[in-house]
Amino acid sequence: MTFTPDFLDEIRNRLPVSEVVGRKVRLTRKGREHTGLCPFHNEKTPSFTVNDDKAFYHCFGCGAHGDVINFVLETEGLSFPETIERLASQAGLQMPEFSPGDRQKSKVKKTLFDLMETVTHWFESQLAAQVGSEARNYIQRRGLSAATTRQFRLGFAPNSKMALKDAMLAREEFSEDMLIEAGMLIKPDDGGESYDRFRNRIMFPITDRQGRVVAFGGRALSAQAKAKYLNSPETPLFHKGRLLYNLSGARKAAFEKGRLIIAEGYMDVIALSQAGFPESVAPLGTAVTEDQIREMWRLAPEPFLCFDGDKAGKRAAIRVVERSLGLLKPGHSLKFVYLPDGEDPDSFVAGHGQRAFETLLARGVPLATVLWEELTNDSDFDTPEQRAGLEQKIARTLTEIKDQKIRLYYESDFQKRLKNLFGDEFVPDINLREQNKAFGNRENQSGRNAKNTYRKRPYNVNEQEKSIGNLNNTEIGKNAYLSVKDRERLIILTVLEHPWLLERHEELFATLEFESLELDKTRNEIIRIASRDSDLEKETLRHQLFENGLGQVVDTISRQGVLTAQKFIGRNSSAEETEETWLHSIELFHLEKIEKDIAILGSKDLNEEEFARLQALLEEQLASNKKISDILGKDT
Ligand code: UTP
Ligand code: MN
Repeated sequence: MTFTPDFLDEIRNRLPVSEVVGRKVRLTRKGREHTGLCPFHNEKTPSFTVNDDKAFYHCFGCGAHGDVINFVLETEGLSFPETIERLASQAGLQMPEFSPGDRQKSKVKKTLFDLMETVTHWFESQLAAQVGSEARNYIQRRGLSAATTRQFRLGFAPNSKMALKDAMLAREEFSEDMLIEAGMLIKPDDGGESYDRFRNRIMFPITDRQGRVVAFGGRALSAQAKAKYLNSPETPLFHKGRLLYNLSGARKAAFEKGRLIIAEGYMDVIALSQAGFPESVAPLGTAVTEDQIREMWRLAPEPFLCFDGDKAGKRAAIRVVERSLGLLKPGHSLKFVYLPDGEDPDSFVAGHGQRAFETLLARGVPLATVLWEELTNDSDFDTPEQRAGLEQKIARTLTEIKDQKIRLYYESDFQKRLKNLFGDEFVPDINLREQNKAFGNRENQSGRNAKNTYRKRPYNVNEQEKSIGNLNNTEIGKNAYLSVKDRERLIILTVLEHPWLLERHEELFATLEFESLELDKTRNEIIRIASRDSDLEKETLRHQLFENGLGQVVDTISRQGVLTAQKFIGRNSSAEETEETWLHSIELFHLEKIEKDIAILGSKDLNEEEFARLQALLEEQLASNKKISDILGKDT
């Protein structure tokens, strides 16, 4: 018995992996993923992840990997056909019929893909028919050729509540339920009769990566229509945040030219394509998502994003910049193209032609420049405070870049830009990132760059060393195995429970560079509150954090942090023990960051400056390790 790939795809599309896996494994949601204990090997801490967007599960412990079908095959001891049968019934799909003598002709039960294809064809036929004459005229007026209309499979949805419904049900291939599921019919909540979603609209089929129609955009023919554009709702086939319009059509040209253009609308993509830019795509009526940025990078290393030249367009561009910083990878970036006021790519190529648009592309602005302009826009930098403020803002923004190598390059690029901006004025010769570091004085430790004395040593080493005793009898060693986020939570949670720690260590706490923005913000707020109240009570601190809208974060910190923390910051711990444990956590936090930096520097060819930095880091690592083993006691 064989199943068509479409049928198997339909199963994968309809059943979220988390739902199927969730019947066997207790899953916890973590952002876009679910995690749990791997059913394929024995483990105590979860390394098994499920990603519904990507439709697979993966175990970082044992490497088990697959989709819903693999999962059932491997956990239920069923044959392949039995597996498919079970999943099909869970997905509400009828099994294909296999009549013994007539295999060739045996028709697989119609899928949603078949339905969308049939509907597309029907819309095309309506455009060509008498009822489509106004729509044809409109398309012509918009300057689209017959070939372009065919290529993009444009169609027409007549101005009727039942035209598509009647035509489809008459074919007896698809049920009303399927038409509703595909988003083509709307079923009123009050139980009334279902009717056509798209009426009196030019229809733009939206295809998936493989070119199969999965949804539609519809442009109103009438200027009176409530929405100019209407899109299919989310369906088992269509997830608008993941797709790009014309992705499958643009792929070949994008590869050949090594270039991808992102416009805002359907008409822009089609007009660009007709004007000689078939490497054009668009998001689907929403702001660009992270998934879409990743998708763009699969087609070209530096996609060009087109925006209006007005304020709104600039703001939209900035949102894309912000969204992309955490995703940047070596060799991948974005370019920004601003169109003259009031124009979109469609009107621009119509009015100025292909060469003019090429020129616009050639003037595309690199991501780094857009970011720099945003950071320095609308501000004066006449006073030292303003300048320091800018430097700090830059440093903080650049911490959003997750790829360490790219971050280094951005830091050096922005350092140069700062020098340009301030002219001959004094600019501290620092690595920007250092500003956010808790123990930021590494150059001083190596005896180099002694001029950086304007940065305060965050806390007094001797004082700390005095306060660290022997913690043999505590559970502190376990602290070494926390994740970065857990450790960050633990450090904050300890302060929430013991605000008195800030009396001696406020500076230290204030200068820690948390990776989590949310935790960073919480820390800043704690410092602000503490600076106004020298005798801060635990309850007061919590209360004020709640009042300032950080209640949820505090709750999460408390919930997640307690398990790891209760052993060593419980009510029974002495103040001394608490303080030591807390400082130990911070030292580990520090060490991990040093080790990350070492790893980056270790993986590249170093110039003299970088080499010196690496040496300083290694020394720091040594010192930090020593401090930690001192805390843990000499006999361990
Ligand atoms: P525009 O209003 O810029 O449309 O919206 P356009 O592509 O230039 O269309 P024409 O030239 O007037 O025909 C850009 C995109 O925003 C989404 C659509 O995806 C559109 O292509 N949009 C716009 C909606 O989803 N709904 C709307 O009401 C308007
Ligand atoms: Mn337009």
